[in-house]
Amino acid sequence: STLQVAKAKPDPIFALAARYQADPHPKKTDLGIGAYRSNEGKPWVLPVVHEVEKLMANDPTLTHEYSPLAGNKDFYEAGARLIFGNDIDVKKVGSIQTLSGTGANHMGALLLRHYTPFGKGAKTIWVPTPTWGNHYQIFQTVGFEVKAYPYWDGENKKLDFEGLLDTLKNKTADGDTIVLHACAHNPTGMDPTKEQWEQIAEVFKQKELFAFFDSAYQGFASGDVDRDAWAVRYFVEKGIDLLVCQSFSKNMGLYGERCGALHVLLHDSTPEVAENITSQLAYQTRGEVSTTPAFGSRIAQKILTTPELYKQWDSEIKLMSSRIIEMRKALRGKLEELKTPGTWNHITEQIGMFSFIGLPEASCKRLTDEFHIYLLPNSRISVAGLNTSNVEYVAECIHKVVTE
Ligand code: LMR
Repeated sequence: STLQVAKAKPDPIFALAARYQADPHPKKTDLGIGAYRSNEGKPWVLPVVHEVEKLMANDPTLTHEYSPLAGNKDFYEAGARLIFGNDIDVKKVGSIQTLSGTGANHMGALLLRHYTPFGKGAKTIWVPTPTWGNHYQIFQTVGFEVKAYPYWDGENKKLDFEGLLDTLKNKTADGDTIVLHACAHNPTGMDPTKEQWEQIAEVFKQKELFAFFDSAYQGFASGDVDRDAWAVRYFVEKGIDLLVCQSFSKNMGLYGERCGALHVLLHDSTPEVAENITSQLAYQTRGEVSTTPAFGSRIAQKILTTPELYKQWDSEIKLMSSRIIEMRKALRGKLEELKTPGTWNHITEQIGMFSFIGLPEASCKRLTDEFHIYLLPNSRISVAGLNTSNVEYVAECIHKVVTE
């Protein structure tokens, strides 16, 4: 036939999730995909989301009509205020609703392919090493060459800040696009300090680099949505051109509803510039999916724009992030109690949903194959998969693969 299709390689994160689902072992433990779990190991619908769903079910004004091409405006304007702060003039932000974080990354990348640097169209995009695996696929799909800048120093289990800064200063071309994780870096759980962000921003200014912020974990790093937006807001304050890919998958638990937004904010933006950007993004959206799903955006909009619901949401984020912090402490504590060789302080120093525990790939494979503990081969664990019933088992198995 004229169409010859070889089998695609499996996606590492989703293939792991499928393997976990199919495993009948009673002690199986899911530390793979980044999705919050309750202390009972179950998916958790945020009570505030459930509240809003009930209100929606009884709202006679809601229909299933198409959204406008740019999506639900009240939703993405509320999203812009969440990430940039309440003082932002949303008229100066070029925004659209997207198919969550992945869709925002895709639409942002497509826009930059056409319009940067300096209007000529970008060919290169830089990502940290390591980064969320899907970044490569998303950016390559739109024709980017993906280059990597140093980020994680595996030997010392810390940020390779010198390597990062040196690459940004000396290896990038003026106007290049650089992907930054807004907070709770995936997969390492290690963010730059404020002082380090300030130095990074300085290089962005000098070289007119474009900041491509991926913000999938606002609220998960510190439990405080404002604190987690600090780096993005600092870059705005410094007048750096940027975009933000905003996902509500994790912080509202809306994973499968594909709820997110893309916000482009240029240092010299005007309402007209922002409108032009939104119009191009809407044009791109029309050619790919026509319009984005209404359901999740209505939930997020309602929560973000209703003070009592917002307050409830804020407390539910704190509940999720504090349970994760407890589990970090518990895992580290058990490993230290067992005197597992190595240092484990990085587990509590890392933040957000993930910990990069620093085991070799063969040990990670053993944890999965022999002990039914599902984690990524690069030793990323989703700490949200730990709970008071399984953390001891996980620590004991880590101890075994390290010592036996
Ligand atoms: C993850 O990194 O596990 C999550 O962001 C889920 C995904 O889409 O890969």
